[in-house]
Amino acid sequence: MESAHAHRKDEHLAITEANIRKAGSKENFADLRIIHDGLPELAVADTDISVNLADFKLPMPFYIEAMTGGSFRTGQINGQLAQVAKETQVAMAVGSQSITLKDKSSYESFEIVRKVNPDGFIFANLGAGKTAQDAQFAIDLINANALEIHINVAQEIVMPEGDRNFNWLEDIAEIVRTVNVPVIVKEVGFGISQQTLAKLAAIGVQYVNVGGRGGTNFAAIENQRNHDTDYDFMLDWGQTTLESLIEGQLSNTDITLFATGGINNPLDILKTQIMGAKMTGVAGHFLHTLLTKKEVGLTNEILTWQRQLHELYALVGAKNQADLAQTEYLLSSQLANYRQQRTNN
Ligand SMILES: Cc1cc2nc3c(=O)[nH]c(=O)nc-3n(C[C@H](O)[C@H](O)[C@H](O)COP(=O)(O)O)c2cc1C
Repeated sequence: MESAHAHRKDEHLAITEANIRKAGSKENFADLRIIHDGLPELAVADTDISVNLADFKLPMPFYIEAMTGGSFRTGQINGQLAQVAKETQVAMAVGSQSITLKDKSSYESFEIVRKVNPDGFIFANLGAGKTAQDAQFAIDLINANALEIHINVAQEIVMPEGDRNFNWLEDIAEIVRTVNVPVIVKEVGFGISQQTLAKLAAIGVQYVNVGGRGGTNFAAIENQRNHDTDYDFMLDWGQTTLESLIEGQLSNTDITLFATGGINNPLDILKTQIMGAKMTGVAGHFLHTLLTKKEVGLTNEILTWQRQLHELYALVGAKNQADLAQTEYLLSSQLANYRQQRTNN
């Protein structure tokens, strides 16, 4: 019999796949239009989409974002994702390892990721509110190259069994000071504000994943699990991924941004990176591909996206990621209005 925590991981998976993807989010990134230049003067073969991260040269600037582990079923999925990661050299995050802090039987569902992919770039993942010792344990369990600490206040609120104490900064500061890999503080779909970035910068955080609204929606998922109390009014809570990247542009910290939330194709990735993200995580979409088209389908998709990103770099005349900052774009009037209201905040 698996624990309630393990069962929750299975429920997240099932609800995401059964309902949430149907809602779709195709229009998410339509609020940003890239200005077309018919003479980019560049060959696809001369583009470089690689990214340097923590002494690693990653061949592509996107990765499989944190989802699974903790139960038998999600351990199997971790193994399949790791196989795809090995074949494509895409980086990959495991789902929250909080369960490993209290349940030894869950170790294997995470360890499989390193076993299958000994040389890959792997992110460990833990929720906020854990100690530096817990964090180092999660890293060591899978010999991780980096650690994601997810902050998910809004999700906890919607969960009946969720935390109600959100004093997290001190523990995060200690983790950043102590552990032996880079730490990325990551939202899970409610976005980031300039204020949050300033608080994180003040305690020495160097990497933040803006984790914006527009993709997998944990307010919706938890609300579906939660039959007694209705939190429907929370479905639109938070900043979208593009709004969060605008927050990043307006903030005066030098934090390196990652993005996730609603990525469905390589053009979405390009747009997040034009807006300042160094790496872009894809969760729900890749999970859906894996569950419907198996490992071979996801491997093909990732290799196709890699090729298509090279093409898109050429299309906008960017030889490498640094050049993307020169790309001209327009914001929808709604997003421009957002930007204006949030300037000088
Ligand atoms: C089934 C599922 C489980 C997830 N579990 C975690 C988790 O344990 N830790 C975490 O940081 N994020 C978790 N996430 C959030 C994703 O990493 C990502 O931030 C979010 O889904 C938005 O990306 P997407 O729109 O591409 O799905 C999970 C997402 C899904 C779909």
